[in-house]
Amino acid sequence: MSAGGHPSTATTSNKTTPERGCAMNRMSGETNLSGSARVASQLPSTLSVALSINGEPVNTEVDTRLTLLDFLRERARLTGTKKGCNRGECGTCTLLVDGRRVNACMILMASLESRRVTTIEGLAATGQLHPVQEAFIDQDAFQCGFCTPGQIMSAVGCIDEGHANDPAEIREWMSGNLCRCSAYPQIVAAVRAAAEALS
Ligand code: FES
Ligand code: FES
Repeated sequence: MSAGGHPSTATTSNKTTPERGCAMNRMSGETNLSGSARVASQLPSTLSVALSINGEPVNTEVDTRLTLLDFLRERARLTGTKKGCNRGECGTCTLLVDGRRVNACMILMASLESRRVTTIEGLAATGQLHPVQEAFIDQDAFQCGFCTPGQIMSAVGCIDEGHANDPAEIREWMSGNLCRCSAYPQIVAAVRAAAEALS
């Protein structure tokens, strides 16, 4: 009875609160939010991009939020590039864009128009291992191997940049690539050996 005794009060209260809330929302910026949402809805959610991957031309339509790493692994089926942290901290996804080292997890496909991407699969495209790959085998420079594609791609970039002249320099310029197994001494030895082989 008491619950039914105050229906009018409850109704009044329930009607008033949301109406007041709507008015406050309108006054405090709902119009701006709607404006932002309107602008966002006018932006394209997909984009055409033409690039080359390991020497092959690729023309594709991509979600504007798609990273190069996810495109390679999930659409191009190039799973040699590994996903570790997915936020630019571990270097596991390192590859080359126009010959320079980048973290594929931090690059949007939409930004790669006319760019040249080289992945670990592209290093031995002719069937002959790259000297850095040979050196990693010779020096036993991996344990679990998960970081290895990124280490090798980073080493290729490091040597091309001229930053592989001694172990200290190699450690500094390869410091963005983490190896959870701590194969660092062998990795440094492999990079140095490859640098000498390529000089
Ligand atoms: S997965 Fe890209 S930096 Fe770790
Ligand atoms: S070899 Fe295992 S993380 Fe580097």
